[in-house]
Amino acid sequence: MLQVDGHTRLCGLIGDPVEHTVSPVIHNTLAQKEGRNLVYVPFHVEAGQVKKAVEGAFALNVLGMNVTVPYKREVISCLDGIDGIAEKIGAVNTLVRTKQGYKGYNTDATGLYRAMISENIKIEGEEILILGAGGAARAAAFLCALKGASKVYILNRTKEKAQMAAEEVNRQSEAGCVEAMGIDGYKNLPKDKKYLAIQATSVGLFPNTEDAVILDKEFYRRVHTGFDLIYRPSCTQFMKLVREAGGKSYHGLKMLLYQGIEAYELWNGISVSQEDILFVYARMKEAMGIEE
Ligand code: ATR
Repeated sequence: MLQVDGHTRLCGLIGDPVEHTVSPVIHNTLAQKEGRNLVYVPFHVEAGQVKKAVEGAFALNVLGMNVTVPYKREVISCLDGIDGIAEKIGAVNTLVRTKQGYKGYNTDATGLYRAMISENIKIEGEEILILGAGGAARAAAFLCALKGASKVYILNRTKEKAQMAAEEVNRQSEAGCVEAMGIDGYKNLPKDKKYLAIQATSVGLFPNTEDAVILDKEFYRRVHTGFDLIYRPSCTQFMKLVREAGGKSYHGLKMLLYQGIEAYELWNGISVSQEDILFVYARMKEAMGIEE
């Protein structure tokens, strides 16, 4: 355990709720492994208190913050600057201290990208199905459009939300490759084609582990790779269905890992070594009781 002294720097997480967060494991493990005098603490911030929390953190010389649900959009109005990609996505999950205030970044998107690279999942030139049209789905769709996917289909229960998300991502990425569909829209896609599918709805999240947003086997025959953004449980119903149909599937824990790694790198102005990344990942799995 780190010895807190007069030089200890503080980083933290603001959200509501924050009790189940794994982020302290990421940052405190890294700080300990690197011998850096830094601690990371979750802060439960109630509705209406975000601005005060950010101003208070700055006044207290807090080095950096993560921001989680439900404040990733709201926090933007409390910042001194915003990174271009975070601005286009319209969500910030990392605050980096500058002279006058905090600058906002979105390491969810870059974290997803690094997680996909680490699993050898290709985006460029691919046709990609995104399930869901909430904040996580938008960030994933934006990343895919930006990294040269040839086509991105956003499938959502509420088609109007998919349409709004597709329009926004097309406008902000200037790619024009994003198309909206209802959740059954895959039925109109060619049967012989295989897609990368990113599961970005909240369906299947613990404790509803038997649920998947699409149960139809017909859908899974079209998937060569399934990436679920959910990491609790570590094998979702979506992942099982992808595997049963012969595809490869991945959970969202590496995305969580890399969004944390990127935040830590931004706060400290360093690159974390591959060895330390693997060390942190093992600690995260241990903390969550994941064996594979
Ligand atoms: P986040 O910001 O974490 O992505 P969100 O904005 O609440 O969360 O979005 C949740 C996503 O899960 C939405 O796409 C939602 O579909 P709707 O837009 O139709 O609400 C999807 N979702 C949640 N529960 C669902 C269910 N039972 N069936 C289908 N989709 C569901």
